[in-house]
This record gives sequence, C-alpha cells and structure tokens, in this order.
Amino acid sequence: MPLLTLENLRKQFAPDVIPVKDISLTVADGEFLTLLGPSGCGKSTLLRLIAGLDQPTQGQVKVGETDLTTTPPGDRNMAMVFQSYALYPHMTVAENISAALKIRKIPSMEIRQRIGEVADKLGLTHLLDRKPGKLSGGQRQRVALARALVRNPDVFLLDEPLSNLDALLREQVREELKHIFNAQKKPVVYVTHDQTEAMTLSSKVAVLLDGRIQQLDPPSRIYTHPANRFVAGFVGSPQMNFLALQSQGGVGTLGTLKLPLPNGLGDRPTVDLGVRPEDIYLTPTGEEPTLKGKVTLVENFGREQLVTVQFGEGSSKIRAVIPPEQEWSGDHVGLSLKAAKMHWFDSKTGDRLSPT
Ligand SMILES: Nc1ncnc2c1ncn2[C@@H]1O[C@H](COP(=O)(O)OP(=O)(O)OP(=O)(O)O)[C@@H](O)[C@H]1O
Ligand SMILES: [Mg+2]
Repeated sequence: MPLLTLENLRKQFAPDVIPVKDISLTVADGEFLTLLGPSGCGKSTLLRLIAGLDQPTQGQVKVGETDLTTTPPGDRNMAMVFQSYALYPHMTVAENISAALKIRKIPSMEIRQRIGEVADKLGLTHLLDRKPGKLSGGQRQRVALARALVRNPDVFLLDEPLSNLDALLREQVREELKHIFNAQKKPVVYVTHDQTEAMTLSSKVAVLLDGRIQQLDPPSRIYTHPANRFVAGFVGSPQMNFLALQSQGGVGTLGTLKLPLPNGLGDRPTVDLGVRPEDIYLTPTGEEPTLKGKVTLVENFGREQLVTVQFGEGSSKIRAVIPPEQEWSGDHVGLSLKAAKMHWFDSKTGDRLSPT
C-alpha cells in the first residue's frame, strides 16, 4: 500500500543555495498534495528529490516501509509529468505512451490494451499515430499525462503540467485531472504556483517559502486560517488587505479606523489586521461604517467591482469587492469589515494570532 513519506529532507547545492530545508510530510493513497509557492521556493527541487533525479543532502524518501532515498529513479515506480512534457519527437503518440512499458518488458498484448484504455480515457485514440510535432499544446499535455497513467505507478509527480496551456484549456484540463486522479487512489504530488489549481485540485496544500513549509492543510483551511501573513497574502485573489494597527487599551487604531482587539492582543503595542476584499462591504444607510475614505480606483471585473479606498491622514489603502451593479454617490464612501472574517497577525513575525 503506497504511502509516500518524506523525512527531514534537505538539499544543498552550495553553501548559500539550500532550496529544500528540512521538509517532512506524508501523502497517503488517494491524497492529492499540492506544493504551492513563489518562483524559486524549491518546489521542483523537492519533486526531483522524490523522483530520485537529485539526491538529498539529508533525509529520507519512503514508499510504504521501503526506504528509496538512494534507489535510482528508474527503480522507484514513480511517474513524473514535466512542465515541458518531455515527449520523444521522433516517436508517435502510441510509442511515446508505451516507451516505459517496453523497457519493463511487459508483453505487447498487454501494452496494446493499456494504451487503448488510457488513450480512450484522455481522448487520444484518434491521435495515436501522430508525432508530437503535429499536436496542439493541450494534446501534448495529455500525451505526457497518458504516459504517466499507463505505467500504473505507486506515486504520481507532476511539475506545473498546465502552465503551457491557455486559460480556457487549463480550466478544462484541470477538471479532467480532478476526475482522473480521483479514480487513481495513489499518492499525487503536484507542483504549481497557481493558487486556483492548488485550491481546486488538492486534498491538501503545502505552501512553501524559501525551502520551508509555511502551512500544510486542506485548501479551505489555508484560505480561512492562513498560518502567517505570507500565506495569507499568497493565497487569495484579489489579495488580502493588511493594516498595521497601533494598539492601546484593547483598541487597534490606524488613522480614523478604530477596532476592538480580540482577547489577549490588547497588551501588544502593534498588531497587523488582515481582511480579504470580499469581507468588506459598502456600509448601508443606518449603519455606522468601520472606516470612511475616498475612492481612488474602481476596477470592473464584470462579475464584481474591486474598489480601492484611501483613508486616514496618511495614505492607508484598503480594497473591497462589491457587487457589479452596486452604485454609490460622490467619491467618499463608508466601508464595513465583517468582524468574523478578520485575521490578526504578529506585526514582527507575521505569525497568526487570532482567531486560532
Ligand atoms: N542544480 C542546481 N544547482 C544549483 N542551484 C539550483 C539547482 N537547481 C535549483 N537550484 C536553485 O534552487 C532554488 C529553487 O529552485 P526550484 O527549481 O526548486 O524552484 P521552483 O520553486 O520550482 O521555482 P519555479 O516556480 O520558478 O519553477 C533556485 O534558487 C535555483 O536557482
Ligand atoms: Mg519549478
């Protein structure tokens, strides 16, 4: 029963190049783990360590009880899909899909049957005799995926497989991936810096920064309870607003904005408030606004408007998402913040303070 385990993995290329710094996690059968983080945070390096394409400086890679840390990649029974697809240009689609099976000396009858099944599943049947040069990006991407699926591996590893597709196709293939991997019941490790992919595909997400896991949780938890300011700012679009408040007598203040602080935060001199734009609304008449300010920018996305409001004596800004049809008069508005949707962070470390 494959269960992928990483124990204290570290990879050091040079004294000051350590893209993976002590990463431990498990991925069970049927779990879909996404490694999410900005460019250069160590996602691909970590995936290559799992695949055996690079050797860790420290730590272990296990599948089940078997330690594979020093096992060559070809003996790991893991399938990897690269961003570049890495198809053989001189081989047909069918030959590309079956190459790994031939190396394993699987009987040709069985190979034909497995190609047929996977091609059917991915809508490639009519393309089996074509060479990759005569395929669209989306079709090539499917061939790369077929090549991984046909092997029936213990673990699937995918490195930004959708990043070369246009937005519409990406959405479509994302949906297909979800169906395919739901049916596989094998551990999947998926690398992306696209938060929509991470949120929609994963059973859990590891948010990485500078070679370390910032948070490892189901996607909904990452969104509702980001572990620190980095995660809060990285996940969610439009981005969460952050306001640095001075605190006194249990009240946080920034210009004209005054908010009661949650229990236990009152004795700090400063504290950071995070609030997502969708958790702010134009204050209806009869209600006291949390803050008043001047509208400096309106961006209409069709489905919603993103309104930037400047407030306080300084140049504090806050962005709010409001319904597309909502109107207001003048360039000054009152905004209300949903109390239950406020996030509080330590102003020095960025760690989440409340709600826990
Ligand atoms: N073979 C190598 N030798 C030296 N440094 C390397 C090597 N491979 C990766 N690095 C460095 O390690 C860091 C992490 O690289 P990695 O490819 O893992 O990032 P990533 O998170 O996949 O980024 P991206 O989203 O851009 O693909 C980078 O600073 C990179 O320059
Ligand atoms: Mg990468």
